[in-house]
Amino acid sequence: MAERVEIFEVGPRDGLQNEARLIPVEEKIALVDCLSRAGFRRIECASFVSPKWVPQMADSGAVLAGITRMPGVSYAALTPNMRGFEDAVAAGADEVAIFGSASEGFSKANINATIEESLERFRPVAAAAIERGLPVRGYVSCVVECPYDGPVAPASVARVVAALRDMGCYEVSLGDTIGRATPEGIVAMLKAVLGEMPAERLAGHYHDTGGLACDNVEASLGLGLRVFDAAVGGLGGCPYAPGAAGNVATEAVAARVAALGYEHGLDMDVVAEAADMARRMRG
Ligand code: HMG
Ligand code: MG
Repeated sequence: MAERVEIFEVGPRDGLQNEARLIPVEEKIALVDCLSRAGFRRIECASFVSPKWVPQMADSGAVLAGITRMPGVSYAALTPNMRGFEDAVAAGADEVAIFGSASEGFSKANINATIEESLERFRPVAAAAIERGLPVRGYVSCVVECPYDGPVAPASVARVVAALRDMGCYEVSLGDTIGRATPEGIVAMLKAVLGEMPAERLAGHYHDTGGLACDNVEASLGLGLRVFDAAVGGLGGCPYAPGAAGNVATEAVAARVAALGYEHGLDMDVVAEAADMARRMRG
């Protein structure tokens, strides 16, 4: 049997958070419901951040309340602090994510904290999640390049990964936030990170500004990673990463991993339906 690669669908969160038009909650719910039918095991569909910082995610509670939950699917939410965590629990998120950065410039711009301050803020969130039995995922942004600080040292990424591991994150997702990384940059970064966390507990989260995201997925597969974040229709971008294009498209990652002989387990007709829906939402 072919080896399995999981695509972690982040379209309803990372894909939509940057859209200027305020998307009606019914459209977001319809997108998540379609994705649930496509066969994803994990879908990130909420973000309990400040609505002043990211207005598009202000209705995350209503999204989680309105979706039809498919058994076996984990509906995930970003939680930057205890306030966000409590809101995520109240809304019934199945898992939460804390999100840090390997570069100081992006950390400050994105969550208004230094890297150290952010890790201090995440510690009680991770502890509270684990106490409740909720899986907690970690993100590290700017793993190769930062829009404010330029190139990022692999050792800086490894340090933040180790901190998230020590807090109990079951998986750490490595973000090429501005989508400018090359396979060489990804490999150099992963070699440092693999000294802290095994490949089975790492995910690649690649944006596709430079058009190399699928090559970066392929390079990561070579080092043992088997989970990749992607967004249907290539939706997205981060409001605090100027110039960043969308996440790598789910359809493109699925096609690449299938061509390489891996099984992704998705119904590509339903994925195409979701991608159409996503493109219409973008306007
Ligand atoms: P702050 O201003 O430093 O914090 O923001 P604060 O504690 O002083 O709070 C400011 C205001 O926000 C207060 O309201 C708080 O009550 C409120 P006010 O008194 O002004 O009316 N507030 C909240 N409201 C709702 N939910 C909360 C919450 N916390 C505080 N949880 C903070 C710090 C982290 C809150 C802010 O910087 C923030 O929300 N940042 C989020 C930025 C964001 O969501 N970025 C996109 C996601 S990350 C990403 O896309 C990268 C990723 O995809 C990986 C990759 O690609 O690299 C994951
Ligand atoms: Mg992202």
